[in-house]
Amino acid sequence: MLAFIGGTGLTRMDNLDLIERHAINTRFGEPSAPVVEGELDGQRVLFLARHGDPHVLLPHQVNYRANLLALKEAGATAIVAVNAVGGITPQAPTGTLVLPDQIIDYTWGRDMTLFDDPAAPLVHVDFSWPFDAALRNALKEQLSAADLKWNDGGCYAATQGPRLETAAEIARLERDGCDVVGMTGMPEAVLARELEIPYAMLSLVVNPAAGKSTHEITMAEIEAVIHDGMASVCQLLADFARSYSPQR
Ligand code: HPA
Repeated sequence: MLAFIGGTGLTRMDNLDLIERHAINTRFGEPSAPVVEGELDGQRVLFLARHGDPHVLLPHQVNYRANLLALKEAGATAIVAVNAVGGITPQAPTGTLVLPDQIIDYTWGRDMTLFDDPAAPLVHVDFSWPFDAALRNALKEQLSAADLKWNDGGCYAATQGPRLETAAEIARLERDGCDVVGMTGMPEAVLARELEIPYAMLSLVVNPAAGKSTHEITMAEIEAVIHDGMASVCQLLADFARSYSPQR
């Protein structure tokens, strides 16, 4: 079943008709919220609020391992993860949706693997291409059909937060080749890979990253972009759920 992980600004999908809430306890504890199974335009999907419902968990407090295991247990066979990001390069102006094709992990101290049982065989999972190509292509088709500003590809920088970056940090990320910056892409993406669940990210640019505009970054500015942007994302995901078939 197709699953969505909602980030900042997407704690609930108003267009999702509830079927069941799965309260799942994993070997790593409880996920951020119950996994919601529901119907989106007649299609059965799963939804998980990454930061909890209500939104209470900071990016470094999210139990990513429990979240991914809970989604797997609930029957997720593909995951589209939605997140709010800062825009670094001209490819990522505020209000744009970006479909990243690469990621660099700058986080630290997070539980970032499911393979940490000393009794289990050693596994180094391939992560050269962190996002599932077929799922990205399906999302691209949907984005092309929608009247939205979007960008195919880009490198997502996963930072630790919860503070925003310094201008020097953003300049460094840009030199590293990053286009957008967020706080939750890792270890979420790699855990999906470890579980062999196709995973793709849909990032809404909600502010120019630090040093990329002449003014201070305010929550009010971010919230205004999120308000309109996430409404479009909900519509896009409903259309996507209707057209998506995992066999393609
Ligand atoms: N930096 C990191 N994470 C973010 C930002 C940002 O500028 N905006 C939204 N999430």
